[in-house]
Amino acid sequence: MTLTSVKVPTTAFADQKPGTSGLRKKVKVFMQKHYTENFIQSILNVLGEALQGSTLIVGGDGRYFSKQAINMIIRITAANGVRKLIIGKRGILSTPAVSNLIRKYKVLGGIVLTASHNPGGINNDFGIKYNTENGGPAPDAFTNAIFEQTKTLAEYKTCVDLDCDFQEIGEQSFKVDNREFTVDVIDAAEDYVVLMKEIFDFDKLRALIKGQDGKGFNVLIDSMNGVTGPYVQKIFLDELKADQNAVTRIIPLDNFGEIHPDPNLTYAKELVDKVKADTKYDLGAAFDGDGDRNMIIGSQAFFVTPSDSLAVIANNLQCIPYFRKHGVHGFARSMPTGAAVDRVAAKLKKEMFVVPTGWKYFGNLMDAGRLSLCGEESFGTGSDHIREKDGVWAVLAWLSIIEHKKMGVKQILEEHWKEYGRNYFTRYDYEEVESEAANKMMTHLNNIIASGELIGKTFDIQGKSFKVKLTDDFSYVDPIDKSVTRNQGLRIMFEDGSRLVFRLSGTGSSGATIRLYADSYEQTNVTADAQEMLKPLVQVALDVSKLKEFTGRQEPTVIT
Ligand code: G1P
Ligand code: ZN
Repeated sequence: MTLTSVKVPTTAFADQKPGTSGLRKKVKVFMQKHYTENFIQSILNVLGEALQGSTLIVGGDGRYFSKQAINMIIRITAANGVRKLIIGKRGILSTPAVSNLIRKYKVLGGIVLTASHNPGGINNDFGIKYNTENGGPAPDAFTNAIFEQTKTLAEYKTCVDLDCDFQEIGEQSFKVDNREFTVDVIDAAEDYVVLMKEIFDFDKLRALIKGQDGKGFNVLIDSMNGVTGPYVQKIFLDELKADQNAVTRIIPLDNFGEIHPDPNLTYAKELVDKVKADTKYDLGAAFDGDGDRNMIIGSQAFFVTPSDSLAVIANNLQCIPYFRKHGVHGFARSMPTGAAVDRVAAKLKKEMFVVPTGWKYFGNLMDAGRLSLCGEESFGTGSDHIREKDGVWAVLAWLSIIEHKKMGVKQILEEHWKEYGRNYFTRYDYEEVESEAANKMMTHLNNIIASGELIGKTFDIQGKSFKVKLTDDFSYVDPIDKSVTRNQGLRIMFEDGSRLVFRLSGTGSSGATIRLYADSYEQTNVTADAQEMLKPLVQVALDVSKLKEFTGRQEPTVIT
């Protein structure tokens, strides 16, 4: 039977501007009549002619509303001339897995249904993100073009009679407007596991976990009820033969079990408490809803900041077969990330790039063969094996280093700091601040930074003295395509190398989140408590920004 597509008249929405990582809104916003359909059609309009006869990957973290959205995507892509969709079984695909599938099967791109680490369920968030041919998040030019489409969209095409189940693995074919249309439902984890086995030495990792004389290396891997469950099952249980107690919360739930699936000390407290309480654990790790973020803790919950994690991995890439084979090109970090990795780059004589916040800024450098490893302070670490950050990959990288060095997590860090000194880092998040108040505070800061009035000024606080060297609003020129990205964070840099950064989050779905980043460098005093160490600097930030006065917030909601 041939199915026929129809054009559905619609009215444009004014609020479909993609943020740091796709369009994120409350589920109920996406549930509005035509809202989701409009956004999908807008993506397809930007793809234009390339869409005809193309293949797309579709999947996500399985959060509430994913199934409805996938049904819409099936019908709308079929009506728009797409030839084939590859969909994860039950709509489940981690963000790194999507990136891998796009690259492996050389398809046009992928639609990822996730709001990442934001909570899920009917009262929480949903998100749609487009990844391009290289497997990475669409660059600004592309997302801006989507936004332009959404502003004037007057109709979308769909095929209302097309019913396609994606609960079981297998291929289904349809005829739509006399064209072939195929939906291939695949196992979420299979291709990803193949990739990990190419990158890492699984025999060595298995031996590490098993250990000798009954004393293995004990891990506790927490999927936080997000998408990584099936990947963790296959890799840590089936392949590396860890026992059942080594994994937790590995069934993906559409509301993440009512938790905030964000792997940090606040929201992954359950993992932190378990590892702290039970001295048998040598390493704990958690991932976010869509599997691209990771948190690493050592025995007794010794916390590894993502900025340090990046530097340690950079310093030890030779432990990983992939890098021995492909070589190590440059390193990169997002601007607010602590500069520990810069020191490793300098020592190893590698190129070092500092880009705006968001993984999309790493893609061009990787495609040009100038970047092998990169990360963000926001618990993102990854390499050029794909074009997204990759939570499970980061844990396997750490295990490879541990296996090679025969050292625990804390010992590795202490050795690293001894060699390089330590970049102390902290981030304060003030979530769901009233937008107007947050904007006023940023305007105030912007004004004093634009005027240059802080430069040369000294702040004497809690026995420390900070003299301002430079202030600016970070902007970035992409070294490959020369595109310019402005207003990426207000910076105050001090004579002693300390630094403060302020920016507003681009991933929230309501109100505004203010992020305040503070870091400083110590050559020899490397084992102090980071929060204590950075308190005076944070006080400078609060004084200069008048954050408490503008927002009424006495304390941040999350401290990292
Ligand atoms: C946050 C992080 C950023 C990360 C993004 C997506 O964006 O800060 O590093 O790339 O989530 O995971 P933000 O909310 O700060 O715009
Ligand atoms: Zn994520």
